[in-house]
Amino acid sequence: MLIPDALAGAIQAWADFKADHRVVSRGLGALHLSGILLGGGTAIVIDRAVRRAASGADALRTHVLDEVALAHRVVIPALVLVFVTGALWTLSELEEFLASPVYWLKMGLIALLLINGVVMMRAERAARDGASNDAWARLRTTGTISLVLWFAVLIAGKFL
Ligand code: HEM
Repeated sequence: MLIPDALAGAIQAWADFKADHRVVSRGLGALHLSGILLGGGTAIVIDRAVRRAASGADALRTHVLDEVALAHRVVIPALVLVFVTGALWTLSELEEFLASPVYWLKMGLIALLLINGVVMMRAERAARDGASNDAWARLRTTGTISLVLWFAVLIAGKFL
């Protein structure tokens, strides 16, 4: 791969630093898992609530939509933490990960998770604007897909 010398040097220095400092590699792993616990845990609770509300009364739906909006404030920063720590981890063993099919499978699943999240946010907005049944059907489907994808990414991560 064509990487400018200065960038290659910086990546190598980071890889050496992480390899030489156990506390750094352990800390990075702990932060990655903390972001997953917080973001994934919150997302799973919300995905289940959305599935329940899809076949529930209007009052429950309104309450769940408010909970969804609050959950974004937790899930999005947690995902940023997961991405930053994941990217730093990737850079520390770049060649190994770029050559790993499991790594690319995991990245593909993460891309699907993000796309599904965007579709879910749009359905949430439509449900708020009153386009009820169609929007709730989409919320239910995207909630189910999100549940499956969080576990799929977690399992792929463990097989890296
Ligand atoms: C939904 C988001 C994610 C989930 C659920 C997830 C899950 C995991 C899990 C369970 C592990 C194993 C940790 C351990 O054994 O201690 C892991 C490791 C790792 N993840 Fe993620 N991850 C996510 C996002 C990312 C992203 C966005 C990247 C890259 C940009 C990434 C890169 C890595 C790397 C490089 C490892 C280290 C593998 C190793 O050498 O053991 N992850 N991830």
